[in-house]
Amino acid sequence: MTSPILRKLAGFAPPGARRAVAGALVDLKSLPARLADPARRHEPWNFLHNVGNGDFQAVGVMLLDNLTDHAGLRPADHVLDIGCGNGRVAAQLSPILSEHGGYVGFDISRAGIAACRRQFAGQRHMAFQHLDVWNGEYNAKGRVAEIDAVFPVADASVDLAFATSVFTHMRMAAVRRYLAEATRVLKPGGRFAFTAFALESGREATVAFPFRRFDETSAAVDPKYPERAIGHRREVLEAAVAGVGLQVAEFLRGYWAPGGEYNGGQDLFVVTKP
Ligand SMILES: C[S@@+](CC[C@H](N)C(=O)[O-])C[C@H]1O[C@@H](n2cnc3c(N)ncnc32)[C@H](O)[C@@H]1O
Repeated sequence: MTSPILRKLAGFAPPGARRAVAGALVDLKSLPARLADPARRHEPWNFLHNVGNGDFQAVGVMLLDNLTDHAGLRPADHVLDIGCGNGRVAAQLSPILSEHGGYVGFDISRAGIAACRRQFAGQRHMAFQHLDVWNGEYNAKGRVAEIDAVFPVADASVDLAFATSVFTHMRMAAVRRYLAEATRVLKPGGRFAFTAFALESGREATVAFPFRRFDETSAAVDPKYPERAIGHRREVLEAAVAGVGLQVAEFLRGYWAPGGEYNGGQDLFVVTKP
């Protein structure tokens, strides 16, 4: 939604309705690609669960490339997709994981998990789990607080965890919990790639992301609905990573703000468990 008037109007709608309308527009844009390529007809609809703008396949390929190039994704990895949405990354991952690898994706959106289960029916190495965790943008009726969420995998069982465009919808206390859970589930030497809006001097707000103060260390596009889009101070994110015993291996600035350093909109952290 590019028009400032439409954006203003959208600001008054409740999150679910706003995202469904924006998702329907994404679906409309996807029609030519769906009609031209029969293999794309089964792609999920964004009006059911909107994971953001952009082409399902092109964005999925970009995210997978980043996991390969920066987080060392290997076919034999056991991967955990935190906030897997409607399977945008899973669709690219499923053909490349070997019989030694495996995939678990979880999300708090029932519609998102239902879409994933439909897409990957019969693929036994692709497992999807719904968690009824609250989030103001994506599951406002959720029964479990984000700070109490438990990832649906065993301790020290994951080679590579990732969360693309998930911490950009979570308050800092919730991010801390998810970092702690990542530490629990990673094998020693395991990697966790996550994206965020890491606020730094000169990269605090843009026209597309007009962040305003939410609290001491975070800023939100709409402080009334912080989960719509929220950024955290880079040094606070780094301290949270260190606080749970993880180490930052790489930090790359995304192109949401000036000074982008890789092919991704949001800032990318790759952290490791010693
Ligand atoms: C912008 S979408 C990105 C989806 C997916 N990661 C991708 O890149 O295609 C954000 C996703 O995070 C999920 N989400 C939001 N808060 C969450 C939480 N606390 N735990 C797990 N998933 C969450 C939403 O339901 C939504 O599917």
